Amino acid sequence: MSAIEYREHELYCEEVPVRELAEEYGTPLYIYSKNRILENYRSIAGTLAGLDSLVCYALKANSNLSILKMLAAEGAGADVVSAGEVFLAQQAGFTPDRIAFAGVGKREDELAYALDHGVRLFNVESVAELQLLSLVALRRNTSARISLRINPDIDAQSHPYITTGLSTNKFGIEASLAPQVYALAKTLPGIEVAGIHVHVGSQITKSEPFVAAAEFIAAFVPKMRAEGIDIQHIDFGGGFGVRYVNAIRHEALPLEANAAEPIATPAQILAEVRPILEPLGGAIWIEPGRSIIADAGALLTRVLYLKESSAKKFVIVDAAMTDLLRPSLYNAYHQIVPASITTYDHLTADVVGPVCETGDFMARDRTLNRPSQGDLLAVLTAGAYGFVNTSHYNARPRPAEVLVNGDRVRLVRPRGTFEDLL
Ligand SMILES: Cc1ncc(COP(=O)(O)O)c(C=O)c1O
Repeated sequence: MSAIEYREHELYCEEVPVRELAEEYGTPLYIYSKNRILENYRSIAGTLAGLDSLVCYALKANSNLSILKMLAAEGAGADVVSAGEVFLAQQAGFTPDRIAFAGVGKREDELAYALDHGVRLFNVESVAELQLLSLVALRRNTSARISLRINPDIDAQSHPYITTGLSTNKFGIEASLAPQVYALAKTLPGIEVAGIHVHVGSQITKSEPFVAAAEFIAAFVPKMRAEGIDIQHIDFGGGFGVRYVNAIRHEALPLEANAAEPIATPAQILAEVRPILEPLGGAIWIEPGRSIIADAGALLTRVLYLKESSAKKFVIVDAAMTDLLRPSLYNAYHQIVPASITTYDHLTADVVGPVCETGDFMARDRTLNRPSQGDLLAVLTAGAYGFVNTSHYNARPRPAEVLVNGDRVRLVRPRGTFEDLL
C-alpha cells in the first residue's frame, strides 16, 4: 500500500485528501499514515521471524508519543540515545527489557536515569564510558549489561554526515582495540558483557555494506568467544535506506534522472544478512528508524509568493529549515509535489522558506509541477528526521502533526504557540 498517493489529480493520505488536512489544521503540517508505519514495522519484523529477535525502533527518527505508543503496542523495542528518549519510550509503554541505550556521549546523570528506570542494556562506545557505567551501576547496587559498539571501518556509501562506521567517525570502538576492551569489561564490577553492536550509517541503499558488517560480526564473535568473551547478543543497528527521489510518480510530474536507481529494501537486505548471523546463535536485535517512518510522512506547506530575479526563480513557501532541516543540513533531497494537480506545466526554481538564512531551502534548482501563489505542496518522505529536528529559530512556533488512519484523522501534536517561545 502506498500511503500517500494520487487518486486522479488529488493527493491523498490514506482515505483523506491532504488538501482537507491543511484546511483543517493549517500549514506547515506534518501528516503521517498510521497504516504505512505499521506495515513498514511488520514487514521488517517478519523478516526476522523465528529468530530470538527484536526490532528496536530508533526514536531519534521520530519520537511523537502517539507513534511510539503504536509501535510499543506492536511489540517493538526501543533504541534510545538520551535520558529524554528513555523517558519518552517509557511513557509510550516500551518495557525496560526492550530498551537499548546507545550514544557516543551519555552523561553520568543519563546513565543513572536509565538504570534507575530499569534499563539495563547499554551500547557502550568508549573505555571511559565503560568505566563510568561500572561506577554508576555499583553505586546503585545493580549491574548493567553491555554491548560494545564496534567500529568495523566499513564505508556505508551514504552521505558523509550519516556515515558512522568508518575509523575516522566518532562512533564506536576501533575493531583492533575491541578484544582488550572486552577483556577490561569482564573485570569491571557492575558490568555484564552481553554482546556486540555495529551500526555503519543511515540511508544505506545497497546491501553490500550490511553484508560486510554481518561478515565482520560473523568473523569477530567466534574469535571473542574463543578468548572467553561470551557474546550472546548481536545488535545489528539500523540504517536501511528509503526512496526519496521519484517517491511518487504521476504523468504530470517531472521525473528525476536517476529514476531507475534500485533501493534495497530492509527485507532484501535482511534476507542476505540473516544466513550470515543466524549460525552464531543468541539474540539478534536491529534498530531501524527511517525505514519505519520516513515514507509514512509528508510535510504540507503553502506557497506564499513566487519571485524571479535575473538569475533565478524562487517559490517561497511557509515551511522553513525550522520545520524540515534535512535539505539545509545535508542538502537532502525531498520530492515536492502539488496537493492538487491543476497543470502539466513545469518550473525550475529554488523552493525556499521564510527564515533569514540563504541556507533555508527545501530544494534548489528543482524542476517541479508549476505552482501558483496559494497552492498547497507536499514535501514527501519527511516522516523521519523531520519534526525531531524542528527549532524555534526566527521565533517560529513548531508545526502541528496529524496521524491518519483510513478516513480518521487525529491531531497528535498541536501547533506550537507564541507562549512556547517565551
Ligand atoms: C546507533 C544507531 N542506531 C540506529 C539508527 C537509526 O538509523 P536509521 O534511521 O537510518 O535506521 C541510528 C541513526 O543514525 C544510529 O546512529
